[in-house]
Amino acid sequence: MKILVSAAEIQASVESLAAKIKEREGNRPLTVIAIMTGSIVFLADLIRKLEMPLRVGVVQTSSYRGTVRGPLSINAAMMPDIAGRDVLLVDDIFDTGRTLQEVIASLADFQPRSLSSAVLLLKRGRQEVDLRPDYVGFEIPDEFVVGYGLDYNDLYRNLPFLAVLEPSDLAGQNS
Ligand code: IMP
Ligand code: MG
Repeated sequence: MKILVSAAEIQASVESLAAKIKEREGNRPLTVIAIMTGSIVFLADLIRKLEMPLRVGVVQTSSYRGTVRGPLSINAAMMPDIAGRDVLLVDDIFDTGRTLQEVIASLADFQPRSLSSAVLLLKRGRQEVDLRPDYVGFEIPDEFVVGYGLDYNDLYRNLPFLAVLEPSDLAGQNS
């Protein structure tokens, strides 16, 4: 595989995203809702750089099996009450944008006071929605990436960097 973004570059980007979030949100309490499972590493790093009173919750969606998209499902059972709260939705990557758009629509039903969104990655030229996340770490080319939480068939989430899979990585590994 080929390294696309190094661990040090990721840390610098998370630092600057946190600075922008602090600038905009000030010291108001914030509820961070992470979209499972790809955002776990980003979530862990980002929240440790924020200093306001902070709650954390998760929602689960899934749309990929391998590199193939299936129907999107959303499970909000593990989300704290967000009524009247300032909410920051966190996801790993903004690809077509449909996941974030659908999660935003579901969360709006719970009547948060405000709802903003942060993604580590945005894939250039892939968006199918008008929405754009409020905070974006990196814009990347249209390639399938893994690492730093992102998976291929649930593997590679533990890589500390972001990498592009090559055909030899896609074939033949299944443990
Ligand atoms: P979207 O709904 O097309 O924006 O897709 C967003 C979701 O698809 C992300 O939360 C990821 O879980 C997954 N995804 C999209 N592109 C990639 C990729 O290159 N690698 C791993 N997961 C991806
Ligand atoms: Mg995801």
